[in-house]
Amino acid sequence: MKDVGQLTAKEAEEELERLATEIAEHDARYHGEDAPIISDAEYDALRQRNKVIEDRFPELIRKDTPSDAVGSTVQSKFEKITHVVPMLSLDNAFTDEDVSDFVERVKRFLRWPETDVLAFTTEPKIDGLSLALRYEHGKLVSAATRGDGAVGENVTANAKTISDIPHELTGDSVPDVVEVRGEVYLGKADFLALNERMEAEGKPLYVNPRNTAAGSLRQLDSAITASRPLKFFAYAWGDVSALPSNSQFAMVELFKTWGFSINPLMGRFENTAALIERYRLIEQQRSSLDYDIDGVVYKVDDLALQSRLGFVSRSPRWAIAHKFPAELATTKLLDIEIQIGRTGALSPVARMEPVTVGGVVVSNATLHNEDYIAGIGSKGEAIRDGKDLRVGDTVTIYRAGDVIPKVMDVDTSKRDANSRPFVFPEICPACGSPAIREKNEKTNKVDSVRRCTGGFICPAQAVEGLKHFVSRNAYDIDGFGEKQAEAFYEWGMVMNPADIFTLQERDARSLTRLENRDGFGKTSTKKLFDAIEERRSIDLPRFIFALGIRHVGEGNAKLFARHYQTMEAFLAAMDESAGFEGDAWSELINIDGIGETAARAAVAFFADPQRRGVVDALLENVTPVPVEQATSDSPVAGKVVVFTGALEKMTRDEAKAMAERLGAKVAGSVSGKTDLLVAGPGAGSKLKKATSLGVETIDEDGWFDLVGPL
Ligand code: IVH
Repeated sequence: MKDVGQLTAKEAEEELERLATEIAEHDARYHGEDAPIISDAEYDALRQRNKVIEDRFPELIRKDTPSDAVGSTVQSKFEKITHVVPMLSLDNAFTDEDVSDFVERVKRFLRWPETDVLAFTTEPKIDGLSLALRYEHGKLVSAATRGDGAVGENVTANAKTISDIPHELTGDSVPDVVEVRGEVYLGKADFLALNERMEAEGKPLYVNPRNTAAGSLRQLDSAITASRPLKFFAYAWGDVSALPSNSQFAMVELFKTWGFSINPLMGRFENTAALIERYRLIEQQRSSLDYDIDGVVYKVDDLALQSRLGFVSRSPRWAIAHKFPAELATTKLLDIEIQIGRTGALSPVARMEPVTVGGVVVSNATLHNEDYIAGIGSKGEAIRDGKDLRVGDTVTIYRAGDVIPKVMDVDTSKRDANSRPFVFPEICPACGSPAIREKNEKTNKVDSVRRCTGGFICPAQAVEGLKHFVSRNAYDIDGFGEKQAEAFYEWGMVMNPADIFTLQERDARSLTRLENRDGFGKTSTKKLFDAIEERRSIDLPRFIFALGIRHVGEGNAKLFARHYQTMEAFLAAMDESAGFEGDAWSELINIDGIGETAARAAVAFFADPQRRGVVDALLENVTPVPVEQATSDSPVAGKVVVFTGALEKMTRDEAKAMAERLGAKVAGSVSGKTDLLVAGPGAGSKLKKATSLGVETIDEDGWFDLVGPL
């Protein structure tokens, strides 16, 4: 990247535009979806660069500059609360020099005499989300998130489930009205325990404690919030009827007497050197704390001085956040192991000498695929300057708040002279079948993933497939989890999903009865068999999802089930689509929401004789329950409907849901099978095609006339 000092005005302008878009996107991911894709350090670096460019080219500052934005825009699912005192953000310091500049700036502003001392508090910057708690006459009346700084979300019911948040304030000098602010967070240990539970249940893992805390607080169902052990540190205030103290430090100590938790590492120091010394100390303790922190906040202690200092744009002049650099660790790559997934993907995993990063001991990292190991990125670009990774290498890893750490760099100077590039297996280590990189039919690009072609003969694929079959959102059989899937496979008792349903019958004739095996007994065996019996009938969407078809997750399984309604109809459609052409095929790829990749994968799955054999065997033992035929008296029941153009009275999703509720099938494009086209303003090619095919066409009002109001 070019030094800001060397940018021309034109380049600067372009970069500011790019940064504004990029930062806005990251903001939306972070605040709106609680799912960031870059680390905080990377995000800060973007904002920092934006600011440095703006400082050099103030005339180029954009109207939508990210420097003015505090946080997210408010989401609509909660009621809004307008903050009486806006919730602002803090300016950042990244170096010791930035800190002394800050102290000097404050002193200059106050015309502080050289010889007088000026005290600052030091507090860890908790990596959670801020919350404003309003108390009137000591009683909690509302809790609001920061939102965009001016307007936040009303999360009172959820906040009340957090045990660190008193419903009533105790002690003396509680003002009539006081808004206590602080940070909601999830402890590291609680986060890990939660993820362990998710993993055991086969559910996707949470990314980091902060996003989990944010997601937990913004639940519409308070019972979910209550089930997460959220915590709260009080460190600031907003609207107050009368300030009961004149120092930052004393205020926070008062919070404690009122019943709040305050951070034990808060301190008070009188010069820059002491602030920085404190920063280093807290940085050292960082990994042993049970909560994530991302820096140290310095605040002018004297509240009268704070109010003299006031604010610049969106941050107080009297405080700054001294951020920690991203957490890195150096360790040794001991081995590269290949794991085989349910669909045969060979995934390389780094086994490393255990090392602490971000407070967590890590010994594994994902290596994605063979190109990644070779130093080639997903677009063919060089990564790590094209350096490959070898067993025995010294590597730098980082955890940007993620669960699974990543390998950032390799120190080739420490590389053993005898080391050789890693040779990625071209035969499956589990079954010896060729492992190949498929070519994407559409893009003609070679897939980055190498896959075992062994299918059912591959024990690794078979076991992973079984684990998927019984997982939480699939068959979910009590007493039959990942461990049992492995054991039953090893004992030769359950080689594929269909075997589960003949297990009891075979066990009755077996010499070694299950109840006599390790880990089983009479009661647990009976319970297991009962649970299996209960699953002899199962909803069609679950059944389809459980099959483990590539690219068919829960969403697509539901779409298939809703469209075809019975397993028989689905199977018939798959068979008729076998050549990827004809009416059945075009109906299939016209299902709204189903992409061609998933459609192809499904057809190929049922065309594979081995997999089909298992499906047929399964169907002899279980009954997938058809999807309810929706209200049959609706005029659109059983009809294939397409929506096109702009809809004004409902969103596209609502339209779709409504049509499906009324028993219609919603397709994405017009074909000979389409019964009805609902066309809004701006309808184009679909309208033309419908007209040429003689398909009945109505507008949005016509739709409501037809089906009646919601
Ligand atoms: S003081 C006017 N103190 O950092 C500024 N903030 O970037 C009031 N934070 O929104 C904030 N720990 O979510 C303050 N000890 C601390 C903090 C802290 C974490 C967060 C808070 C705030 C953000 C500002």
